[in-house]
Amino acid sequence: MSNTSEAAHGAGADRMTVRDMPFDFLPRTQSWNPDKPEFAHIVNSASLAMPYLEPYLIKSMRKARPLIRDPELQTELDKYIKQEATHYRRHKEFNDTLTSKGYRCVAKIEEKLAKDYAKLESRRSLRFNLAYAEGFESMALAIGEMLIEDREYLFGDSDSAVTSLILWHFVEEIEHKNVAFDVFDHLYGSYFWRIVGLVYATSHIFWRTGQGYRALLKEDGLWQSSSSRWHLVKVLGRVLGNITPKWLRILRPGYHPKQIKDPDWGLAWAKAFEDGLEDMAQLDTRQLNAPLPVGQRLETV
Ligand SMILES: [Fe+2]
Ligand SMILES: [Fe+2]
Repeated sequence: MSNTSEAAHGAGADRMTVRDMPFDFLPRTQSWNPDKPEFAHIVNSASLAMPYLEPYLIKSMRKARPLIRDPELQTELDKYIKQEATHYRRHKEFNDTLTSKGYRCVAKIEEKLAKDYAKLESRRSLRFNLAYAEGFESMALAIGEMLIEDREYLFGDSDSAVTSLILWHFVEEIEHKNVAFDVFDHLYGSYFWRIVGLVYATSHIFWRTGQGYRALLKEDGLWQSSSSRWHLVKVLGRVLGNITPKWLRILRPGYHPKQIKDPDWGLAWAKAFEDGLEDMAQLDTRQLNAPLPVGQRLETV
């Protein structure tokens, strides 16, 4: 157990908000990002994991809760659970649209993910599962920063509904960035196991996401196309090139997610939402790099 946990939480937790998003996130067209179908399928594949991964994180956190001797951390854990529960329900609605569009691989991918997380839950120790949770959350923080920084390139002119689902999710991932770290640190505080969790969670998610987007691209006939393969390599290179330095800093023995500055755009998004500007959550993908005005409504797409 580490002494750092008492001081560690609080930075993002004060503004951790459970939001019931007041609009639907369902795409209106076959591809929600026709300019970047390869990126769309990377996101679709990652989304398929959410209704399995996030309930697994929640179950691990529920097992940890009675062992925690810090009421403030328990309160943060409760908010974390509520945020994750909202995420996976909205992702499930979105994922079902992929099935209804006729993608046959979705059921198979979902079956694999369900088995993976059932095995982890039943066979691994709480220490391992909390290390996985922390590894995933630190990676999600890195991915969230990357998506927000590169939002105009990745999501520009795409379907507002799906862009808004993804960016809302990652604003909240950044808000609860400290919780899994603090729970793991409070109960186990092991650098070795934290890194095991990080490497395992990263490899597992990337492996399953890779299988998923390959299958989705094959069904669209894009996997066989050399120009699509080139677009895939380019977008993967860009995304991984932006994530890698952020991921490497998690390896530092003194790493804590509170050290990572929250992106201004994410803070502005949360402030506008808090001010009751719910419409702004439905982002205008034609001007994603425009500053989010606080105190006035944005036009919706
Ligand atoms: Fe989440
Ligand atoms: Fe999370």
